[in-house]
Amino acid sequence: MKTVLVTGANGQLGKEIGKLSAALPGLPPIVCTTRKELDITSAGDVEKFIDGSNIEFLVNCAAYTNVDLAEKEKEKAFLVNHDSVRNLVSAAGRKDIHIIHISTDYVFDGKSNIPYREEDVAAPLSVYGMSKLKGEKEVLKYAKGMIIRTSWLYSSSKGNFFSTMLRLGRENEEVRVVFDQTGSPTFAGDLAGAIMKIVAGISGDQTGFSPGIFHYANEGVCSRYDLAVEIMKAAGMDCRVVPVESDSFPVPAARPHYSVLNKSKIKRLYSINIPHWRESLLKCTTEVNI
Ligand SMILES: NC(=O)c1ccc[n+]([C@@H]2O[C@H](COP(=O)([O-])OP(=O)(O)OC[C@H]3O[C@@H](n4cnc5c(N)ncnc54)[C@H](OP(=O)(O)O)[C@@H]3O)[C@@H](O)[C@H]2O)c1
Repeated sequence: MKTVLVTGANGQLGKEIGKLSAALPGLPPIVCTTRKELDITSAGDVEKFIDGSNIEFLVNCAAYTNVDLAEKEKEKAFLVNHDSVRNLVSAAGRKDIHIIHISTDYVFDGKSNIPYREEDVAAPLSVYGMSKLKGEKEVLKYAKGMIIRTSWLYSSSKGNFFSTMLRLGRENEEVRVVFDQTGSPTFAGDLAGAIMKIVAGISGDQTGFSPGIFHYANEGVCSRYDLAVEIMKAAGMDCRVVPVESDSFPVPAARPHYSVLNKSKIKRLYSINIPHWRESLLKCTTEVNI
């Protein structure tokens, strides 16, 4: 039977896809692989794994995602986010497999003030953004390649803005959060659902495959400060959120001040309904012990 291969299955998005399993009608069985099970930096391992299985779709959730550390570990970031994507595309091409590759709003410089469309010029500010953009270019060379850029991804697992705010809210009476970064939060569970709806539609022949770039984030727009305020409210925490400028938090990697994504294309071509970020934030909050 044909299967869906998910790489980077231990990450936020990979875990959410794993939870969906075969819940959607028309969805082929999902094979989730962690870095231990399939290290995408090894072209040989990737080729062997793909050649030895009956994969119809490859969803690449594996990535080097430490935005600040990437400024120091440039080679590592490019190895995972660029060279390894080439490995995946090359192995997929040999067996005519569809690839859905995940990318980021950090490919943009944030100088716009209207939501970014897929065709807008990418000009990353950071090593992470540059490495992801180069990965995208590999996927774009492939006729069965699809890229979904997302932004401000979070889930109930550790190591994201949501979980960090909950921890800070528990430990402090006050937390300072930047108000000059505007974007759209994305609940990884929603993105996982959208990806699998696309896979089920194409696999079941209800939807044609459209290659190229697509944008997906939750509906609505906010600043990091607004998001932190809503997280504290949703969690019933008294912690006061103080708005500050990005300059007050010097970090190695520059972030775009504005990275709202225009999602019209994915909604239109794949009939995807996207929940508002506030609604999804409440959903995610129910998954954690506050
Ligand atoms: N997080 C965000 O805010 C955000 C925003 C926009 C776009 N994105 C994109 O969304 C996608 C998913 O992000 P995420 O937040 O789910 O990332 P994540 O939680 O950091 O997960 C990434 C996963 O990739 C795995 N990985 C790293 N190197 C690998 C390798 N060589 N071979 C196989 N697996 C490897 C990691 O393995 P280990 O668990 O062993 O480290 C980890 O499980 C990424 O493409 C990311 O660039 C993320």
